[in-house]
Amino acid sequence: MLFSKKTPSAEVDLTRLPRHIAIIMDGNGRWAQKRHLPRSGGHAAGAETLRKIATQVKKLGIPYLTLYAFSTENWKRAPEEVSAIMGLLKNYLLEALRDMDKNQFQIDFFGDLSALDPDLQALCAQVRESSARYPQCRMNICLNYGGRDEILQAVRAYAADCLAGRADPEALTEAGFEGYLYSHGVPDPDLIIRPSGEQRLSNFLLWQAAYAEFYYTDVLWPDFQESDLLAAIAAYQQRKRRFGGV
Ligand code: FPP
Repeated sequence: MLFSKKTPSAEVDLTRLPRHIAIIMDGNGRWAQKRHLPRSGGHAAGAETLRKIATQVKKLGIPYLTLYAFSTENWKRAPEEVSAIMGLLKNYLLEALRDMDKNQFQIDFFGDLSALDPDLQALCAQVRESSARYPQCRMNICLNYGGRDEILQAVRAYAADCLAGRADPEALTEAGFEGYLYSHGVPDPDLIIRPSGEQRLSNFLLWQAAYAEFYYTDVLWPDFQESDLLAAIAAYQQRKRRFGGV
């Protein structure tokens, strides 16, 4: 048993951990605003929180972590904010390459990377390729990601396979369709965490979230601590998952 510091009653049973945790890293802007900092300062603090929480997820032995870093809608933000997020991502990935043998994460990406700066695309490809040797803990970074966009691109690819005679519409199954999603090969998230008080899915993992448990907290992402993760896992372990059964 592990005890969370913030919620002393929250006990985590290490034998019943979620296999896949997904996080909507929300609240960076409000965190910065409260401190009279530019929004980019909130994202920088959010990237620090990610380093800390990813390390904890790996230590706990949880094999999949998915993070919503940049959505298909986030392009609507001010250009300075978009480039600040892209800059943080670049630094994060360069650091991941440098420290790969120490940290041992497999890093992959969900989303349409073709809209990113070519240098960043190349860096993503390099990180994806060279981290494939560490499959024990896989981190999926959602970049230019939207759940609807993911489903649409899957349908397009599937329709192309049908037209080319490589797929038969009558034979399509859920498992077969999943093969076209960005997340192919990754089990569905068991637990989706959204900090910052918002209680929305915001186009995140629409297909994959079908049976996920949701955990919301008012804590802003840059303030999110290891104890908050333990509290989320403890809450998850209190839920009765029925997957539509009784
Ligand atoms: C949502 O908070 C957060 C984002 C849109 C960006 C998340 C990016 C990072 C944590 C840093 C870069 C990512 C990596 C993987 C290193 P918000 O800005 O919508 O917050 P608000 O609702 O308080 O305005």
